[in-house]
Amino acid sequence: MAQLIDGKAVAARVRAEVKAEVDRLRAEKGLVPGLAVVRVGEDPASKTYVSGKKKAAEEVGFLSWEHHRDSTVSQDELLALVRRLNEDPAVHGVLVQLPLPRHIDPDVIISAVRPEKDVDGFHPLNAGNLVLGRPATRACTPLGVMRLLEEIGCEPAGKRAVVVGRSNIVGKPMALMLLQRNATVTLCHSKSDLPSEVSRADILVVAAGVRELVKGAWIKPGAVVIDVGMNRKEEDGKLVGDVEFQAAAERASFITPVPGGVGPMTIAMLIRNTLEAAVRGLG
Ligand code: GUN
Repeated sequence: MAQLIDGKAVAARVRAEVKAEVDRLRAEKGLVPGLAVVRVGEDPASKTYVSGKKKAAEEVGFLSWEHHRDSTVSQDELLALVRRLNEDPAVHGVLVQLPLPRHIDPDVIISAVRPEKDVDGFHPLNAGNLVLGRPATRACTPLGVMRLLEEIGCEPAGKRAVVVGRSNIVGKPMALMLLQRNATVTLCHSKSDLPSEVSRADILVVAAGVRELVKGAWIKPGAVVIDVGMNRKEEDGKLVGDVEFQAAAERASFITPVPGGVGPMTIAMLIRNTLEAAVRGLG
């Protein structure tokens, strides 16, 4: 049986490290990091994520603000809000929760965030610098996955890493971070021969958003399995991942549970990115 990767515990440790640093910054430099989160409309998942982000920010001693706008807000009004936050010296991180209503172009909004305050790592400048292997603010979820791999002593160099899902917020940056650590990376999508690609993976990261898409029988014995999926079961409302957990756990060496695996890491890394933005702003 695979060992479980306790993302909740690792995330708590990351937040504790940040809190210690925040206490020191406040005492020595009088600096308090600030995170502004923008939420539009009433998407229930967004509501849950944003309240989790705000709670975590407050627990580590940040200032935090939630700017909620009705789903009828215009793109121009949202742009004006982002620009105001860009100019506010108390705000070190600006995050616009996705998805946005259909009449708003997320690329326009994301590109309007000052790259230095883009704690999601979604701005084209940060995404581009990641591609080029230059310093960049990195997307929180794949950054959290890299931290989990480190925690279990999994060295990507020379391993076959397979990423399922090519989203801009998880799959693509995930593949690039693994590549940067010298894994041999395959990025799969809906047209890929999944059973055959997955069966070659020493490190498997699944972020497809399809409940139990990856079957346990496909997993290479001894593989490290990271499940980014968060799908709510209609039958009982419970969360399940993109991997058939029980069957995969019988073959993997390590596996993340859903919930309690990758999820808590996303928020912990957002908190760390915000701290780093505040510290950079000092220089
Ligand atoms: N929607 C789903 N995941 C994310 C995320 O990491 N950041 C933002 N801003 N929106 C999201």
